[in-house]
Amino acid sequence: MDNLEQLVSEAESAIAACQDLRALDEARVRYLGKKGVITEQLKSLGRLSPEERPKTGQRINDAKQRVAAMLDERKAVLEAAELQKALASETVDVTLPGRGELPGGLHPSMRIMDRISDLFRGMGFGIETGPEIEDEFHNFDALNFKPDHPARADMDTFYLERKENGKPLLLRTHTSPVQIRAMRARGAPIRIVALGRTYRHDYDVTHTPMFHQVEGLLVDRGVSMAHLRGILTTFMQRFFERDDLTLRFRPSYFPFVEPGAEVDISCLFCEAKGCRVCKHTGWIEVLGCGMVHPNVLKAVDIDPEEFSGWAFGMGVERLGMLRYGINDIRMNYENDLRFLRQFR
Ligand code: DAH
Repeated sequence: MDNLEQLVSEAESAIAACQDLRALDEARVRYLGKKGVITEQLKSLGRLSPEERPKTGQRINDAKQRVAAMLDERKAVLEAAELQKALASETVDVTLPGRGELPGGLHPSMRIMDRISDLFRGMGFGIETGPEIEDEFHNFDALNFKPDHPARADMDTFYLERKENGKPLLLRTHTSPVQIRAMRARGAPIRIVALGRTYRHDYDVTHTPMFHQVEGLLVDRGVSMAHLRGILTTFMQRFFERDDLTLRFRPSYFPFVEPGAEVDISCLFCEAKGCRVCKHTGWIEVLGCGMVHPNVLKAVDIDPEEFSGWAFGMGVERLGMLRYGINDIRMNYENDLRFLRQFR
């Protein structure tokens, strides 16, 4: 039976050497399993005399119990160690500062429109709005677009399937229909700006299908293009915060004005020396304008013999791009936070 003592001490060092619960379970099977080395000892009992059997059986059972106790003890140690390991690796540091909530901000186009509204309000203009779903009368006819005039087609209009009085509805292609609505509602004299969304079927570096425009309109007795030049010069100088900024008027055509003009501002980036933004001309085109066409005044029951007026229209994103140095208009509407955050 020295053999038995030897097995127990062998088991003891094997158990002590176990580094994890799996190894420990293997040791248990090896010593105490059905075919384990200590269990096997019981089989030798049959060869002993009946007197010796109980004593030896008792010793083997003792040995089994001692090994079982060693296994339990080691198991407790290993389990505690595994728990410690898990606690250390899966720990949540509640003292870490949180990610926080980032404050939102106004979209760059909204900021530009606020700025434009403020500047025109300061010059006595009222803010006007109109519907984005328009009809051909307000978007084209009353603005002196002849039925077969190519300008109508040039506008890349989105037409709706819905009709009103048998005529197709459309998404307004410019803010000019607001002129018509305002003059029809209030007549002359009138001094307004209208800001809002406009739509055209177009998409590239300088065009998105939805964009914003500002429309200006002033109708009164004795109004001339000189007033237009004065107001626009003041506006542009304040908008870009540049007192040295100058304007250039170039003759141009829009059905709703006569004469019509396009306005350039002196380049903001190169002091007229020529750069990429102004395409080496020293000038940047910013808007269209002109004296309100007599046909437009007639369409809204204002007597062109008594009243005259001017109007202008410009792209909000275009002004924003110049003010903030944005070189692709589409960035405005891709909702990339890296872009938007810069305007927070
Ligand atoms: N409605 C024109 C456009 O979308 C812009 C414009 C030009 C507006 C001349 C005006 C104007 O009021 O007088 O291209």
